[in-house]
Amino acid sequence: MASELPLSSRARRTTDSPISYFVQKAIETPGLISLAAGLVDESAFPSEEIASVVADMMADPKSAKAALQYGSTLGYAPLRQRVLDLVRASDGIRPGENAATVANVVLTTGSQQMLYILCELLLDPGDIVIAEAPSYFVFHDCLKSSGARVLTVPMDAGGMCLDSLENLLESLERTGELDRLKMIYTVDYFQNPTGITLAADRRPKLVELAKRFSKHHRILILEDAAYRELRYDGEDVPSVKRFDTTNEFVIYTSTFSKPCAPGLKTGYSIVPTDLIRPIGNLKGSHDFGSSNFCQHILDRLLESGAFQRHVEVLRGVYRRKRDAMVGALAEQFADWPEVSWTRADGGFYSWLTFPDRIETGQESELVRRSVREGVLFIPGELAHVPDARGTLPKNQIRLCFGVEEPAQIAEGIRRLRRACRGMESVARSE
Ligand SMILES: Cc1ncc(COP(=O)(O)O)c(C=O)c1O
Repeated sequence: MASELPLSSRARRTTDSPISYFVQKAIETPGLISLAAGLVDESAFPSEEIASVVADMMADPKSAKAALQYGSTLGYAPLRQRVLDLVRASDGIRPGENAATVANVVLTTGSQQMLYILCELLLDPGDIVIAEAPSYFVFHDCLKSSGARVLTVPMDAGGMCLDSLENLLESLERTGELDRLKMIYTVDYFQNPTGITLAADRRPKLVELAKRFSKHHRILILEDAAYRELRYDGEDVPSVKRFDTTNEFVIYTSTFSKPCAPGLKTGYSIVPTDLIRPIGNLKGSHDFGSSNFCQHILDRLLESGAFQRHVEVLRGVYRRKRDAMVGALAEQFADWPEVSWTRADGGFYSWLTFPDRIETGQESELVRRSVREGVLFIPGELAHVPDARGTLPKNQIRLCFGVEEPAQIAEGIRRLRRACRGMESVARSE
């Protein structure tokens, strides 16, 4: 008899994400409109710009060799400088005004790799991470692999509620658990999954709270700014990192996946100085450097301004999609005032809340009916972790407007409304 595979406890804690089911379903069901997976619009890829950059790069033997060779663990130095300049310009930081330098920048295989590396570096089983409720579910999976306890803070229209965070921090202090708290995680621009942005006046306060409660050790803020560039309305707001003037408390992480192309799978982070060496050591074991070729492509796209021009194009493309989604929601759900949704100023997502009695979980009647009607969404419960009482909100859904064309998005919402017909007054027990 074959003996059992000797998986590590970490591997046993690591499970397949339930999201895979929804991605698979979308692939195998023809005609299904997927408002589920948070993918990027394929028709808006900068293919021509990338083709021309690669042709130029390969035409010159010197640059071809440089791009095709291994790179360095922390990433291609010119690109590290460019991303630092990009973030500093967005934050209105003048030279000498903030402690972070190019030495604090790390390039990774997507920002996901940094999220994972941080879990490995900072978390032992039983350590605590505070996250928004709801939050980015793939990061929840990393936290689960690490054996971390996830405590959540509610959100309102201004993002993470800092009064609740403060109460939570005080209660951890009272119960003697503050020494297990390692990180506060926020997706602070057009959050995945709600589309909500952390209000400008909460940003310095968040840093202040992390500092104030850093009594046993430093409590780090992990600022996941994956969607920052994709703003369709209003002005950019400074990052949380902007208020970490000594560069000690905030890890800022972002990506070229959303504003350029996920196939390049390149993310970037600005991290406190004493984290650089541990990150370098661990990334050295992972891969001793992410794709050098992709980093060279991105460096050229940034240098020529093609990246910045492309972001402008994307803003127009996704703004139309966002408008198609919220327009269709307003039209279709006008007769059901108990239903509400977010209108994101950027990113890919709208978060829809049904009355409590409507269940949206993976096994729910609503999911079955929606698939029959030909539309798919992500059940909101997948973006939540159970609260202290073990309960999980089950009446929300995440709708992604990133992939489908505006007309399809509107049709998808019509199908969703059809799927709900007859459920308006159905009690949960029925
Ligand atoms: C909030 C958030 N953070 C990080 C990522 C990781 O993206 P990537 O690894 O492609 O940079 C994603 C991807 O969907 C995301 O939604």
